[in-house]
Amino acid sequence: MILVTGATGNAGGEVVQALVRAGEKARALVRRPADLPVEQVVGDLDRPESLDAALHGVRGVFLLPGYRDMPGLLARMRQAGVERVVLLSSLATVATDTRNAVSEYMIDSETAVRESGLAWTFLRPNALMSNALRWLPQLRAGDVVRDAFGDVPIASVDPYDIAAVAVRALLDPGHEGRVHPLSGPERLLPAQRLAVLAEVLGRDLRFHALSDEEARADMAGQHMPEKYIHAFLSFYGAGTLDESQIYPTVEEVTGTPPRTFHQWAVAHRAAFSR
Ligand SMILES: NC(=O)c1ccc[n+]([C@@H]2O[C@H](COP(=O)([O-])OP(=O)(O)OC[C@H]3O[C@@H](n4cnc5c(N)ncnc54)[C@H](OP(=O)(O)O)[C@@H]3O)[C@@H](O)[C@H]2O)c1
Repeated sequence: MILVTGATGNAGGEVVQALVRAGEKARALVRRPADLPVEQVVGDLDRPESLDAALHGVRGVFLLPGYRDMPGLLARMRQAGVERVVLLSSLATVATDTRNAVSEYMIDSETAVRESGLAWTFLRPNALMSNALRWLPQLRAGDVVRDAFGDVPIASVDPYDIAAVAVRALLDPGHEGRVHPLSGPERLLPAQRLAVLAEVLGRDLRFHALSDEEARADMAGQHMPEKYIHAFLSFYGAGTLDESQIYPTVEEVTGTPPRTFHQWAVAHRAAFSR
């Protein structure tokens, strides 16, 4: 039995689907019941003691980072008989400046996993293609998308491919103690991703790049805590995080090339017409 955390989210949701396709027994940890194709157990990753029922009979866990007591969470897993953990981490752990809140919580999560005594694999993806769903409110309101860091190319990765690698790391031998950097097959600027979406949706969409000062105000207006605003300006404004690299990992691990942003957009077209 594999336990999937974040199962209602972009990455965890794809892991659930991939396990179902693989015919593997899977259970979703959810904070409230959701529409999922596998058994669900309610629990909260910020409260390790709430996980006991979810961990019953579990051999492997797909784990998201950054919860309140990662060492306590992992100790609970080990006590319950879990053998391996695949952690969704980030390349923020190896940014050229890691003095920011995002790198810190990712590094703390990796450290807790390394020290847990469980077999582990870290997935360090570039930014997720599904981040384009954050444009939805603007796309509902009109044809212009205003966003930050317009000059930053990213080889973003489809959560579908993160899940495909996660499932191999959960089920196959040979991934223990390994770090998998993950990317898609192409590096694109935000305006280029929007152009792909425009083509797929049959709309005339335009990108308006925000200056870093406008980006700061925009993030603050969305109630993002200052420490995260600082992290994103460090990553993409000051350039301490390079997510433009293309890695061979997805194809090496799964035997299939990673999906393009066009493939992601086609697969998620319906989400943009709601
Ligand atoms: N976005 C990126 O570009 C990127 C890049 C590298 C790494 N990551 C990491 O990947 C993670 C997942 O990304 P995503 O796009 O899949 O996120 P997402 O769609 O926002 O999903 C987050 C998931 O976590 C669950 N969750 C949140 N707090 C929880 C708690 N206290 N207990 C149990 N479950 C909880 C949510 O469940 P509910 O339905 O209950 O809210 C949801 O299923 C991110 O959080 C980040 O740490 C992201």
